[in-house]
Amino acid sequence: MAILAPSILSADFSKLADDVARAEKGGARFLHVDVMDGHFVPNISFGAAVMKSLLGKTGLPFDVHLMIERPDDYLEDFITEKTEYITVHQEACTHLHRTVQHIKSAGAKAGVSINPATPLSAIEEILCDVDMVLIMSVNPGFGGQKLIPSALDKVKRLAKLRDELGYDFKIELDGGVTIDNVMEVVDAGVDIVVAGSAVFGSDDIEKTTKKIVESI
Ligand code: DX5
Ligand code: ZN
Repeated sequence: MAILAPSILSADFSKLADDVARAEKGGARFLHVDVMDGHFVPNISFGAAVMKSLLGKTGLPFDVHLMIERPDDYLEDFITEKTEYITVHQEACTHLHRTVQHIKSAGAKAGVSINPATPLSAIEEILCDVDMVLIMSVNPGFGGQKLIPSALDKVKRLAKLRDELGYDFKIELDGGVTIDNVMEVVDAGVDIVVAGSAVFGSDDIEKTTKKIVESI
């Protein structure tokens, strides 16, 4: 059984807490927090202050996705009582092992993400240390893009590798998930499904969340 982590990137920021409450009521299990710096990705989203504005407004744990350069400089800002995962990009970390240990010692579970063109082999040596691997199914930077199908094959290969190695990290997929392709995503072996525009871009956030949650 997979769980849903709606991305607040596609929420209406002028009523963020309301939108989040609707997704929570619909059965979301995490809040996916997309942080973009305008350097690692060609877009700027928001920082820790916006995420922290939700403290006390939601019971959902935070799943923080840092699409930023020099993540080590900012990790502590994202540690809160609701922060469960902090995920960094392999492509943004020169000393990935050090950064993963830093996340854990700061008090969060550690995730590592790879872009669509980055091979699994780039993270092979860190798999024994991570709590989650986030497979990007779009080039990060924007919500509302189309899922790149090769990401599903990558998920299948990663799930197989996890079995062979006997590890227990979660597999998350992010980008282009819709109500129409979510089953295919879960069947590939995804544990945590991120959906931004499919949830927050819909007319009825609670109903759409429920629909996705029930189908996965
Ligand atoms: C992409 C972000 C995603 C994105 C997902 O850079 O990391 O989390 O917001 O949005 P959708 O589901 O609309 O592709
Ligand atoms: Zn994301």
